[in-house]
Amino acid sequence: MKYEFTDDYLTGIDSIDAEHRRLFDLTNECYELVMEDAAEDKYDKIVELLNELRAYAATHFANEEAYMEKINYDKRFSERYQHLRFIQKLDSLALDDIDENQQEELLKILDFLARWLTGHIKNMDCRIPKA
Ligand SMILES: [Fe+2]
Repeated sequence: MKYEFTDDYLTGIDSIDAEHRRLFDLTNECYELVMEDAAEDKYDKIVELLNELRAYAATHFANEEAYMEKINYDKRFSERYQHLRFIQKLDSLALDDIDENQQEELLKILDFLARWLTGHIKNMDCRIPKA
């Protein structure tokens, strides 16, 4: 089952919600890749997805952090730290390992992303006040 962007994930800040929706879409692309035939070579698709995810997350985090800075949100440093950890995690993925063990590594990535959607968006971002 795909990951659904339900109202539970809404921050009420339209621009941030639109970007979170895109993060859900990218997580679902990862899900679809997991579901594709495990006998197929998925390496190029995995790398492409990871690059897109890294670039999109960096843009989104910058936008979200600028908003938190603007409203002087007191938890903005915890947010920034978690964002940093997310990017570090993506950067730490070893492409050789992914190539050799595609399905297992892909599941790990999906698990990480799915946890992030709940753990970060729902538990952290949803507390960011609307200006
Ligand atoms: Fe955030």
